[in-house]
Amino acid sequence: MNIKDQYRIIEFGEFGDERGNLVVAECGGIDVPFEVKRVFYIYGSDSTIIRGRHANRKTSFVLINVAGSSKVKIDNGSEADIVELNRPRMGLYLPPMLWKDMYDFSPDSVLLVLASEHYNENEYIRSYEEYKRLMEDQSGE
Ligand code: TYD
Repeated sequence: MNIKDQYRIIEFGEFGDERGNLVVAECGGIDVPFEVKRVFYIYGSDSTIIRGRHANRKTSFVLINVAGSSKVKIDNGSEADIVELNRPRMGLYLPPMLWKDMYDFSPDSVLLVLASEHYNENEYIRSYEEYKRLMEDQSGE
């Protein structure tokens, strides 16, 4: 499958006025295509750090740089794409079984992550070789 058909950029609604900005992420199939069970955020990483480096068997994610910017390299085992997250209104939807690296964090980056599942280390694939093998097995079926 073409990698561009696997992930999706979401544009959240914005209700800014003279008092400031307000961005809304309606979950459960509206803006975010799943019910959110977990939220975490990453900050204090810098331009030398690569985070992520894993795929998830079950969890879908939406990533939002609510401040600053970062890049996400998305890999499906046969092709890769890079998305820059640099606006609070922009979300990146990633379904399960995509390999992801997050990197090039700006000093003020706050990367908010919405997840469809509770944390379970057993559903993380942290070896790229294992991931490649699984994807090759899947495409050969
Ligand atoms: P890690 O998966 O390395 O984070 P990232 O992929 O964003 O670089 O997680 C770092 C540590 O935090 C690791 O010990 C697992 C723990 N953790 C949780 O306990 N719950 C969570 O929801 C997440 C994302 C991580």
